Amino acid sequence: MPDALILGIESSCDETGAAVVRSGQQILSNVVASQIATHQPYGGVVPELASREHLRAIVPVVRQALAEAGQTYASVDAIAVTQGPGLTGALLVGISFAKALAFALEKPLIAVNHLEGHIHAVLLEQRFSENADLHFPVLALVVSGGHTHLYLARVHENLWTYRNIGHTRDDAAGEAFDKVAKLLGLGYPGGPIIDGLALDGDPHAVKFQIAQIKHANRRDYKQADRGQVPPEEDGPHFDFSYSGIKTAVLRYVETQNLKPAIEARRQALAGIEKATLADIRGLCDRQTLNLVASFQWSMVNDLVAKTLAAAREYDVRTLFVSGGVAANRELRTTFEREAGMQGLPVFFPSRALSTDNAAMIAAAAFPKFLRGEFVAMDFCAEAGMALR
Ligand code: KG4
Ligand code: ZN
Repeated sequence: MPDALILGIESSCDETGAAVVRSGQQILSNVVASQIATHQPYGGVVPELASREHLRAIVPVVRQALAEAGQTYASVDAIAVTQGPGLTGALLVGISFAKALAFALEKPLIAVNHLEGHIHAVLLEQRFSENADLHFPVLALVVSGGHTHLYLARVHENLWTYRNIGHTRDDAAGEAFDKVAKLLGLGYPGGPIIDGLALDGDPHAVKFQIAQIKHANRRDYKQADRGQVPPEEDGPHFDFSYSGIKTAVLRYVETQNLKPAIEARRQALAGIEKATLADIRGLCDRQTLNLVASFQWSMVNDLVAKTLAAAREYDVRTLFVSGGVAANRELRTTFEREAGMQGLPVFFPSRALSTDNAAMIAAAAFPKFLRGEFVAMDFCAEAGMALR
């Protein structure tokens, strides 16, 4: 197999990333400029601000990735960039920059689906550690701020194909973490904060019911942004729904009269520059910690139960769990325990590769490089790009 150095660029949401990866498996550099501080006051990503921050960061981030890898613009073999799904304005920054580089350097340009990137974050590290335990079919759960998607993944002569066998009907899992954290005045992004606070709460204190969806109805899908398209093939679907639990948390807040305490916490945090988890923890009473732990427990158990039901139905031999929410500690330990009981090997990316980064984009581009799957200069960003 030929060796190739690929410069990956990622700008689909609120992280500007650039990385140099050798042959889809060895990370020479992986630079991520986070925009958390920019979006924090709004409690969520503001698309216009995201584009502006990408514009500011893209040149220094790419330069730093090349420098840390000991490479130059001339020494890389190809440029890979995220085409979608994501925020159009944000995607366009990475795409325009990658096009300009490829044109000026006369290097091939590779377009990568962000979700495929998340799946290849797992493959990258497994290839590097020469894991021989990778048997097909693989079931991949991509669980992030924009997605909760299940894919059956296959590869034939370096051509990766994906079949969507389930996804969220409304909110993504990460979105639910972020919205609940915002609702409770805990800060942004919610996932890592709830992950940390849940360690000190009782996960069985509050009972939440998560919707169980029996049959997929194509007309019910929210076809809006971020790739929410209905599964195309026949066969059982395993869909998720997380908007109800957010409403249940809100109802709990109202019936337990938690609003004054939440408002006091919000104001106290607004006065702290760069609040740490310890700062936030110090502003939470036992009832709030129990609520947070119970919410996380319900989310984790639903994600694990539905994914393992799909794994049994499709008789898969390997499980991948990737995307920002895959960084969650309780999710990891629960998957390991429950999949272990089914004799199913489960693989996660390291926590750094779970959230958005460009190394995963460069890794996903490598099989396309081997196949000569390059894009023309007029290719466009695809905000709602589906993975096939
Ligand atoms: O993959 P990612 O970086 O961006 C998207 O493609 O969306 O995922 C970001 C999401 C956010 O919703 C964030 O709250 C969530 O992943 N997240 C977590 C954790 N770390 C990040 N959720 C739960 N536990 C975590 N430790
Ligand atoms: Zn992502």
